[in-house]
Amino acid sequence: MSQRVAVIGAGPSGLAQLRSFASAKEKGADVPDVVCYEKQSDWGGLWNYTWRTGLDENGESVHGSMYRYLWSNGPKECLEFADYGFEEHFGKPIASYPPREVLWDYIKGRVEKSGVRDQIRFNTSVRRVTFDDATSKFMVVAFDHETDVETTDEFDYVVVASGHFSVPNMPHFSGYDKFKGRILHAHDFRDAMEFAGKDLLIIGASYSAEDIGSQCWKYGAKSITSTSRIGTMGYGWPDNWEEKPILTHVDGNTVYFSDGTSKDVDAIISCTGYLHHFPFMAENLRLVTGNRLWTRDLYEGVVWERNTRLFYLGMQDQYYTFNMFDAQAWFARDVIMGRIDMPDQAAMQAHGERWQEREAALETAYEEIDFQGDYTQELVDQTDYPDFNIPLVNQMFKKWKGDKVKAIMEYRDWGYESPLTGTVAPKHHTPWAEALDDSMESYLANES
Ligand SMILES: Cc1cc2nc3c(=O)[nH]c(=O)nc-3n(C[C@H](O)[C@H](O)[C@H](O)COP(=O)(O)OP(=O)(O)OC[C@H]3O[C@@H](n4cnc5c(N)ncnc54)[C@H](O)[C@@H]3O)c2cc1C
Ligand SMILES: NC(=O)c1ccc[n+]([C@@H]2O[C@H](COP(=O)([O-])OP(=O)(O)OC[C@H]3O[C@@H](n4cnc5c(N)ncnc54)[C@H](OP(=O)(O)O)[C@@H]3O)[C@@H](O)[C@H]2O)c1
Repeated sequence: MSQRVAVIGAGPSGLAQLRSFASAKEKGADVPDVVCYEKQSDWGGLWNYTWRTGLDENGESVHGSMYRYLWSNGPKECLEFADYGFEEHFGKPIASYPPREVLWDYIKGRVEKSGVRDQIRFNTSVRRVTFDDATSKFMVVAFDHETDVETTDEFDYVVVASGHFSVPNMPHFSGYDKFKGRILHAHDFRDAMEFAGKDLLIIGASYSAEDIGSQCWKYGAKSITSTSRIGTMGYGWPDNWEEKPILTHVDGNTVYFSDGTSKDVDAIISCTGYLHHFPFMAENLRLVTGNRLWTRDLYEGVVWERNTRLFYLGMQDQYYTFNMFDAQAWFARDVIMGRIDMPDQAAMQAHGERWQEREAALETAYEEIDFQGDYTQELVDQTDYPDFNIPLVNQMFKKWKGDKVKAIMEYRDWGYESPLTGTVAPKHHTPWAEALDDSMESYLANES
């Protein structure tokens, strides 16, 4: 009987895993049986937008953290699949910072072409994964919401690709219980229009804080106040955006900051990040980590060192995304297919420690970019995933950083070079700050 692989999640990482096996099969390899469990009714992970918050139609926690009018926050050229370019998908060059719907379409294009959809059990949530040492098999217990049946299946390998930007890290501040406006986490933010004309407090200093604040500014918030432990994000914000040190407490609708100043606000959005949360994994198989560039316990950032039949994809903090997930998926595939020899425990640990030491010494964003580029290259070098131009991608990430510092509300108006075709992206027809329509139809209009 052929080997069986369970993939948990059909977002970009899980789909990369399906694509990797399809690619090997196209080249004539005998590939294992793959079953992918996806708790949503469609594929694409976070890119599959949902208006829902809280619980979904099946009573499961809503996975989606994306919101309306979300555009890519990095150049698309930095995430381009090395085996399926943007030009191939859209039939023409397109601008560098596509809205969510355009990227979702791109993600879907590759897997539709690969014919892997029938490997996915949609509306099926994985409840429990255990490993039996005696049989060397995993048991995967899942609940199929289409049939209302709990299933139990046996697998030789498990790939966890369930994402880590869905379960809010939500700090409490004194006075929240009496605040008269809305308090929400970025995970539940859906439409900036809701905050038009309002005074808004944003907590955090990372991508969500920056982008949700920018969205609210773009769609007419009266004022934005951002508060963080680091004090400033380092960008030149518009006049009605003020940065404050971290808040200390809230009294009525007044927020107090650690420098003794205060501000009245209508709503508070906690852009305070997410938890790596795998309640369905047995304790001895469960990854425990924060959002960092090197995840402990994973050989090559992918293989569970204590049981090398288990894999985690996409668990790192991310500059690189889709192409790094691909490199990881191809690596996992080749371990499963016996094409890569696994070192012993001591060698795996020593390898991880070297990366951890390098991570600990990182001081600048440029160094972080090089770190993740080098990591991705190390994976690419070990499989037949096409060797894309990582030095160019690193360089583009660094330019992107600079563009943001130059003009935070204009950085999405720049075009970048495809590492696949060398084409420099055309300028979008409307500057981001004025483009209120984020539909695919609008984005792709007038580009030749
Ligand atoms: C607001 C936001 C904006 C972002 N914007 C960008 C961007 O502009 N550019 C970029 O490159 N990246 C962006 N990202 C990063 C994002 O993490 C990746 O682009 C990508 O979606 C990660 O893919 P993934 O497959 O690892 O995880 P996810 O996309 O989270 O997919 C995981 C899948 O697993 C499924 N799942 C979870 N638990 C279970 C279970 N128990 N059983 C069955 N299925 C399960 C989920 O339903 C989901 O479909 C953004 C993230 C957020 C939160
Ligand atoms: N396409 C887009 O435009 C877009 C938009 C939003 C998000 N994203 C993506 O979403 C992912 C997640 O980004 P994220 O910003 O949500 O998470 P994140 O990068 O993990 O950042 C979390 C932020 O929360 C702060 N924080 C955590 N705990 C806190 C506490 N107790 N009190 C105060 N501040 C606290 C952190 O501050 P400290 O540094 O002080 O810990 C940090 O600023 C990223 O991959 C990003 O690219 C993309």
